[in-house]
Amino acid sequence: MVIAIDGPAASGKGTLARRLAAYYGLPHLDTGLLYRAVGAIVLAQGRLQDEAAAVEAARTLDVAALDPDTLRTAELGEAASVVAARGGVRAALLDLQHRFAAQPGGAVLDGRDIGTVICPKAQAKLFVTATPEVRAERRHRELIGRGEDIAYAAVLADIRKRDERDSARAAAPLVQADDAVLLDTSALDIAQAFEAALTIVEARRRGS
Ligand code: CDP
Repeated sequence: MVIAIDGPAASGKGTLARRLAAYYGLPHLDTGLLYRAVGAIVLAQGRLQDEAAAVEAARTLDVAALDPDTLRTAELGEAASVVAARGGVRAALLDLQHRFAAQPGGAVLDGRDIGTVICPKAQAKLFVTATPEVRAERRHRELIGRGEDIAYAAVLADIRKRDERDSARAAAPLVQADDAVLLDTSALDIAQAFEAALTIVEARRRGS
């Protein structure tokens, strides 16, 4: 079974993807890490706005070497969103995502375009969302926990800016697939969100 999970920043999709993968014993790919890694490479080169550099970084990305800990910073979330708007970058990362999804037994992938572009035939699709304020609170707590010195207002501004950039771009914009089920986690804790996600996936598995 392939489970596709999309949604805006800090909606809870990553946590749900990890839990669903553990529950079903499926491999999980956090596709945001791919864009964050590309962003990290071009940022280090001082070429964040250089499309050719970003495409080259995407083409030569060493997926085995991705380090979630160093990639989940606020700065790299922003850099990821810049390189992710480039069609060439997205094209360079297509093949590895397709291969990951095609593993025997299936996989769980989370991102922005999994249900729409990467795995349009996924058996179960979730579009996970929450209000910008709730998402900013969660992300602020997470970043402070990681030792980043950042104000709530700055996190909220970053989330609004990324929502806008991710939704407005021409290449694979953030949009709910027609056959995705919307899950609003604004008023749910992690356990409640997982229960809700599981109910949705099980319904799809049974073919309803
Ligand atoms: O954890 P958070 O939702 O903040 O970010 P992420 O999932 O790591 O993604 C970072 C950025 O990468 C997003 O703002 C998107 O611009 C981009 N992205 C994308 O375009 N397509 C994906 N499948 C995954 C991420």
